[in-house]
Amino acid sequence: MLREFTPADAPFLLGWIAGPGELLTWAGPTFNWPLDDRQLQAYVDETAKGARRTWTAADPTTYEPLGHASLRLSGDGTARLGRVLVAPQARGRGIASMMLPEILAHAFGPLGLLSLNLGVYEHNAGALGIYERLGFTTYEVLKDVEHVDGVPWTALQMRLSSKDWR
Ligand SMILES: CC(C)(COP(=O)(O)OP(=O)(O)OC[C@H]1O[C@@H](n2cnc3c(N)ncnc32)[C@H](O)[C@@H]1OP(=O)(O)O)[C@@H](O)C(=O)NCCC(=O)NCCS
Repeated sequence: MLREFTPADAPFLLGWIAGPGELLTWAGPTFNWPLDDRQLQAYVDETAKGARRTWTAADPTTYEPLGHASLRLSGDGTARLGRVLVAPQARGRGIASMMLPEILAHAFGPLGLLSLNLGVYEHNAGALGIYERLGFTTYEVLKDVEHVDGVPWTALQMRLSSKDWR
């Protein structure tokens, strides 16, 4: 089940990200490793101020948080889908496949957004496949934008318009 994120969910995120590469994969270069309470509080504050809409996917029986994602609202009818993360122990069980369509339905429904964009590293095959299945297409390739342990990472910028959804 998907519900609004609450600050009490933030500590779970700390436990789901095991190293600097995972942090970069999750959120791009926004945060510094190690992720800590101060950085998470700033992230929580963005939601509290209305700049973001943030959700938690929870186990319907135990209510344990298992997934996370948010929309950063631009104020011009667009938003950036990001911070997509599923608890390591819960991956491969369809949580992202449940969570993301619900968020898109909310974005293009009640929120009335015209388009969504996102960034994903090209080698992140799991996430990329999910976004492609949702209808996102690449509009820009940022080649070798990051280097991790000497390996260049290329980022894809993807977009989905409300008219192309469903
Ligand atoms: C990417 C991520 C959110 C996927 O969440 P998930 O709940 O495990 O995904 P699902 O179980 O819903 O899988 C959806 C589909 O993607 C496929 N998939 C998921 N992870 C995959 C992987 N690592 N490699 C290849 N395919 C993968 C599944 O097989 C499934 O395919 P199907 O619909 O044909 O059955 C999760 O692996 C994660 O949190 N990764 C780390 C953070 C991250 O990469 N975030 C995205 C940043 S842009």
